[in-house]
Amino acid sequence: MGKQDDLKRAAAEAAYEYVSEGEYLGVGTGSTVNHFIDVLAERKPEIPGCVSSSKATTERLRAAGFDVVDLNSSGELGVYIDGADEANEHLELIKGGGGALTREKIIAGAARKFVCMVDGSKQVDLLGRFPLPVEVIEMGRSSVARALVKLGGEPELRSGFISDNGHPILDVYNLDIMNPIELEDAINALPGVVTVGLFARRPADVLIVGNDSGVETRE
Ligand code: A5P
Repeated sequence: MGKQDDLKRAAAEAAYEYVSEGEYLGVGTGSTVNHFIDVLAERKPEIPGCVSSSKATTERLRAAGFDVVDLNSSGELGVYIDGADEANEHLELIKGGGGALTREKIIAGAARKFVCMVDGSKQVDLLGRFPLPVEVIEMGRSSVARALVKLGGEPELRSGFISDNGHPILDVYNLDIMNPIELEDAINALPGVVTVGLFARRPADVLIVGNDSGVETRE
């Protein structure tokens, strides 16, 4: 494992402390979450099953022996554990680098507690250095892209990619996101937008940061 993987693994181990036994667990997507699934597989918590944010995560969870159910049949969800691409001091996030932003946002919104794991390189003062993913309905791809230019960004179609929901993603470069809630609302209001990867209306409740000096938890 490389250094970055060690930090992700350390954050995943700290996130395990938030798993609530006896309840369905929401599980996100990405390389940090893959470490978290390894931790789950090793420690085998007494949970009835998981709600998954992507096909990739569902496959891994099932291979590790966990039942995966639909959010519509899990009942109220206690905890959702996921990674992020950027996090600021208010625990607002950019997510969707792996393309799973829509299901991630639905599960985060449904969970009582959203625990986010990152390595220290993803902590930023200002969100937007990481290109902001926007999932769109194919028919509205160009009109949404023009509107995103008016909002100050440089959208690029993610090449060769279609989300688990069957939609393309625009990655928006060069945004200085001074007001994340305002931008999230503005992008959500564009006809054709399915989901924007800004998690400001629903930030993380807990941010676990893996650094060289150890794991820091912020709430
Ligand atoms: C998936 O769509 C994303 O939101 C991920 O949570 C994010 O990209 C973090 O991924 P890594 O853990 O692989 O960096």
